[in-house]
Order: sequence, then C-alpha cells, then structure tokens
Amino acid sequence: MQKRWEVGSEFDWLNDYVMLSGTHTLLPEDYELFSTGSACLLSLEPLLNQNQGHRLRLHIPSFLCMHFVAQLKTVFDCFWYRDLPTQEYPDFNSLNTLPGDLVLAVNLFGVREGRIWQDWLIEHDNIILIEDHSHDPFSSWAQQSTAHYAMASLRKTLPIPDGAIIWSPRKMKLPKASSSMPSAADKRLTAMLLKRAYLSGANISKDRYRQLEIESGIELDDQNNSVVSSFTSNILSCLNISEFRRQRETNVRQFLNWSLTETHPLWMPLFTSWQEGSVPFNSIIVCQSTDIRDSLRKYLIGQNIFPAIHWEQSTKETSSNDPLAIDLANRILTIPTDQRYSFDDVSRVTKKIKTFFNQFNSQKSLTPSLSPKLGRGEEDDSNPPSPTLGEGVRG
Ligand SMILES: Cc1ncc(COP(=O)(O)O)c(C=O)c1O
Repeated sequence: MQKRWEVGSEFDWLNDYVMLSGTHTLLPEDYELFSTGSACLLSLEPLLNQNQGHRLRLHIPSFLCMHFVAQLKTVFDCFWYRDLPTQEYPDFNSLNTLPGDLVLAVNLFGVREGRIWQDWLIEHDNIILIEDHSHDPFSSWAQQSTAHYAMASLRKTLPIPDGAIIWSPRKMKLPKASSSMPSAADKRLTAMLLKRAYLSGANISKDRYRQLEIESGIELDDQNNSVVSSFTSNILSCLNISEFRRQRETNVRQFLNWSLTETHPLWMPLFTSWQEGSVPFNSIIVCQSTDIRDSLRKYLIGQNIFPAIHWEQSTKETSSNDPLAIDLANRILTIPTDQRYSFDDVSRVTKKIKTFFNQFNSQKSLTPSLSPKLGRGEEDDSNPPSPTLGEGVRG
C-alpha cells in the first residue's frame, strides 16, 4: 500500500504511541479525569458555589477559544481581562477581582511563565486561581503549580479520543465526573483507527472518518460532566509522553530555525523562545493581514497540510471585544508540527510555505489586487487532496 502524506487535523491512533514502562511520574499524585476540559471546569461550579443563590464570577483572558468561553458562560458570570500571547505577561491592571472570584490563568501556547501568576497569587489570597495547562499539560509550571486548581484538556496534545485532567496543587476537594456517555469517545476512537488505515493507504473514504470526527466532536462538546472513556483512562499512563514532548519541541525549533533564515515581511513567528521545562503547543505564526493568513491556509489545505486557527473572534457574540485580541485572532495561524511529524515532514511544510510566499509575491507584483489565485505548488504530490469536510477549520 502506498502511504498517504498529510499534516495536521485530528489525531489518529497507532500502537507505537505506547511505551513499555508507564509515565506515571508525569501525572500529579491525585487527579480526576473528565471527558473534556470544559467538563472539568463546569463540574467545579457546584463544588465551589456554596451559595446557589448567585452565579460565581470567573475572570478569563481576552485571547481564548470562544467555544470554550461559551461553555463557561453557561454556569459562570464571565469577565475578561487582557491577556495576549503577543505580550509576555497578562495585563493585571485589567483584572479586577472581588473576594471569592475565580480567575482562569492560561499557559497560552505553552510558552508562558508560571512565576508571574505565583507572585500575583501571593498578593491576592481571597480569590480562587485555576490554571489551564491544555497547551503543555506536563510543563515545569504545571508540575510546580501553587494554584488552587489546575486542569488541562489532554486531547489537544495527546492521541486520545477524549480526556482532560484536573488536580489541586493546594489539595482542595476535586470534582468527580458523574454522567457516563461513552458513545462519543467510541466514535472518535473509530475515526482515529480509520484515519490511521487511510494514512497507511487503505481504501477508506476520508469523508467517512471526518464525519465521525465531526459528530463525536459535537457530542463531546455537549457533555457537561462526563466520565472519561475507558480507552483514555487505561492508555494514559502508557503513552510515551516524554518522547512526544521531545519531538514536539524539536519540530517547533526546526520550524523556527528555518523561519530565522528566511526574509518574510508578510508573516512572523508568534514566539521564538520558551523556558526550560516548557514545550510549545505548536509553530504559531502571525500574518500581516487576514487576507494573507486565509490565502496561506487555503493553499496549505490544498497541499494536505491542515492549519487551525487558535482562536477566531469573528462575531460580536464570540469575541472578547478586546481590539488587540480581535486583530491577532484575524491574523494568527497554527502550523501543525506536533509529535506526529518527522524532520522531513517539517521540511516539507516549510518548503510549501516558501512556495506560497514566492508565488504570492510574484502575483502581487503583477496584480495590485493582492488576491492570489494559488493552486498547487510545482512539486508533484503523489496524493492529490481529497474533500475534507471542513478539515482544519476549528482550532
Ligand atoms: C486552552 C483551552 N483550554 C480548555 C479548552 C476546553 O477543552 P475541551 O475542548 O476539551 O472542552 C480549550 C478548548 O479549545 C482550550 O483551547
């Protein structure tokens, strides 16, 4: 069978992802697993809200996944504070808390420093700090957290059909998942297995497993307090997480090293360094305009590279109303370079980006409209892109 090459989008499942000895040491001593990250936070509400007569106030960063925010708003009164991944620290002047409030601190793209929040917490001992480590669940910050609660949606970085973790560095009572809805994770696992068979060259329709990915995604989003699947709870401690982190960091570094050798006035990497003990979520770039970002993305999808947008703020209802966050959301793009990919894969991705901008620049000099009609690159890919059912659309 001839293997199919593509980069990005949802995880597939491969038995090579497990290791002989487990990774228990990376997991906190005491934790609870849920089906999703949203479910972790939603289940905290009844635990923390002793006075059911009013809703708890939760402060959230102005740069965040708006779908997640919509879930949070169903049980909390949410207030924005400015936190942008273009800036080193959150703007604490915009974080106006009252005693008893909850604050969500997010390690955006896994490149933030925990010390800032630890210092802030010392000065604010009347709030409950919840850290979101979804972009690097096993960073030094996550492991040395002093927050009341810490959580991570594990399914963002690990090849599992569902799963999120919550723990309490301050040994507070943990919420417990109650309802059990296994079908979404089963569906997602089926999609992961079918995707692996598809990538291996089997005669499997991409639409079929994409449909299962979409359906399971919707069903998982609907679960407020669900138990993690037995697949995830059993496989988690067998996953080769250290190796995933090493490969992910190597790939992001390779991408950045390449980007430093390029002159690219039309885009720039969002960050170029991170702390020891951190692993960036992915290679994140910021384009000069939305048009350029969208054209690049379209071109890459045509090349079987599926970049996501973390995160859009496209309508008034799904926006923080922070003009800087909205501007960034309009230009940001995630180039997938996670642990699934090798040196050659990342090289191939960077070559495609280079080809896009070469063509973009030559078209720009021919037409003033700046609307590139870019088709496939010069190189011949043996696997032409197939219909993708919106692949890479949601971040
Ligand atoms: C940083 C971050 N935290 C938490 C969540 C919620 O996780 P889940 O999709 O598993 O509910 C998301 C979702 O996109 C996220 O991006």
